[in-house]
This record gives sequence, C-alpha cells and structure tokens, in this order.
Amino acid sequence: MSTRDRPLRSVLYMPASNARALEKAKSLPADAIVLDLEDAVAPEAKDTARRQAVAALASGAYGPRTLVLRVNGLDTEWGRADLAAAAASPPAAILLPKPSSADDLRNVQTAMDAAGLPVSIELWAMVETARALVALGDFAAEGRREGSRLAALVVGLNDLYVETRARPRADRWTALPWLSAVVTAARAGDLVALDSVCNDFRDAERLGRECEQARDLGFDGKTLIHPDQIALANEMLAPSAEEIAEARAIVAAFEKPEHAGKGAIRLDGRMVELLHAAAARRTLARAAAMARPAHP
Ligand code: COA
Ligand code: MG
Repeated sequence: MSTRDRPLRSVLYMPASNARALEKAKSLPADAIVLDLEDAVAPEAKDTARRQAVAALASGAYGPRTLVLRVNGLDTEWGRADLAAAAASPPAAILLPKPSSADDLRNVQTAMDAAGLPVSIELWAMVETARALVALGDFAAEGRREGSRLAALVVGLNDLYVETRARPRADRWTALPWLSAVVTAARAGDLVALDSVCNDFRDAERLGRECEQARDLGFDGKTLIHPDQIALANEMLAPSAEEIAEARAIVAAFEKPEHAGKGAIRLDGRMVELLHAAAARRTLARAAAMARPAHP
C-alpha cells in the first residue's frame, strides 16, 4: 500500500545508532518511524547506525508502523553504502536529506534503482534548504511524473532557520510562508505533506499549538523527536468526532434519491457542493484507516 493511503499523523525520528530507542519504538504508538542515519548520527557512529538500522528493518518487529530510512546525502562518503544496505531489507521509503533540485530527486532514484531497491520503495524528500523552497514547483512536477518514486515532502525547519537566518519564534510566524508553500506543492504533486519537528519535547502546550497549525495548514502529519510527543499528534492530526459526523451527514445527504444528479444542495441551512462530498469521503477514508489496529 502506498504511504499516501496510510495514516501518518505521528512520524518519529530516532538516531539509528541508539539501540535503546530502536527497541522502544517497537511498542510506541507512532504511525511511522524514521530510522536516521544522517544528522542525528555522529560520523564515528555511522557504521553502527547502518548495521542497527538494517537489523531493525529485517526484524519484522515493528508491526504495521511505516518504516522509513533517512540516508546520508549521495554527496557524502556514506550515502551509497546506506542505499546498498537498504536494499537488503527495504523500508517503505527512503528519506533524502537536503535535496535542492529535481535533479537531486532523480539522481537518488537512479541510485535506488542501481542499488536494487524494488520500485515499490518510495522516496520522501526533506524540504530544508533555501534552494528546495525555490524549487518546490519542480518537486511537485516530480511527484506527478509517471514512474516517480517521490511520495512525500518533509519540512526540516532546523536547517531552514540556520540557512535563511530567519529566527525561530514560538508561534512559528517566521516559518508560516514555507509551511504553507510545502503543503501547496504537496497537493500540486499528489504528495504527502509532513510538518517539521518541535525541539522542545517537554513543552506539550507548544507542541499542541504546532499540531493545530499543521492540521489547519493541511499537513497530513507531524514529524516528532520524542515518544512523549506521539499521543498529541495522533489526537490532533486525526479527523475529530465532529468532522466525522459532519462528513457522514454530507455523504448521506448526497445519497438521498431526491438529490441524485445535483451538484449543490442545502444541508442545515447552508450550501454544500459535490466537491464537499468528495472531501467528506476522503475524511471518512482517513478516519477508517486510522481506526485499523495500527499499534498492537
Ligand atoms: N525514539 C525512540 N525512543 C526515544 C526517542 C526517540 N526519538 N527519544 C527518546 N527515546 C526513549 C529514550 O531512549 C528513553 O528510553 P528508556 O525509557 O528505555 O530509557 C525514553 O525514551 C525517555 O527518553 P528521555 O530521557 O526523555 O530523552 P533522552 O534524553 O534519552 O533523549 C533526545 C532526548 C532529544 C536526545 C532524543 O529524544 C532523540 O534522540 N530524539 C531524536 C533525535 C533525532 O532523531 N533527530 C533527527 C531529526 S530532527
Ligand atoms: Mg536536517
């Protein structure tokens, strides 16, 4: 199943060098787990991390959680070895750090092909450089290209703040144009959109505000760095009980025989159109996917 159809409310990073974190993740209620070989792993720990990531991917111990491997860039000494290792026990997706152009996205797919990664293995791309922000239209076009592996865009604010010199603010107003641009590109390219991390993992109030922003901006999920952040993301990035009830009412209204063939109808004193019925069906499908036992 494409990750486009899976719940991705909570996407937890962990350094693949941290054996304790890899073990703990087997029982955490995250929808997806990103085994990181890149920035969370020090150069001297890269080989251990790669070995542990491969063992984790091969273990079959993570149930239905979507497993993603964040590799080192192809311009580093580790990138190609990371892809070769992934071929031995493939994750659902390879997450590429710091791509800055559609060429970067195509080159890594060529390297994935050469490494023997099955075509079903997706590519997820970080958006964490100024050049990536400028190239978002090309990223969307790559998402629509027939045969492309690209399936998700993942915002990386920590890198973006440093490179652009914008200041991180508690309410994230300096990042909002980027966040919105990434969601827009994702929709234009039929891609999953994942929000950046909240570094202050002890501050649940701040995480709650960020999840609310993520939801309202249209993100599919939020990337996380600590187990304590999972429950809130799962709750806030799922359709609420009210949204589900509303979606059911809209679908039911359009299914009434007297509304057959109509494009716009009246429901509770306001207009709803066929496009709202399509959105309501999407909400119900998402809710159903989230109701499946994802975390045994
Ligand atoms: N995934 C899985 N388990 C994690 C985890 C994570 N991201 N972060 C912490 N844990 C585990 C710890 O190993 C510890 O397990 P234990 O109870 O078995 O000992 C437990 O959760 C509590 O951890 P805590 O003591 O609160 O945090 P810490 O000081 O050990 O770790 C960080 C703090 C920030 C170093 C850690 O959360 C981390 O490495 N996060 C991910 C960083 C990352 O991947 N960054 C790259 C993308 S931005
Ligand atoms: Mg980064």
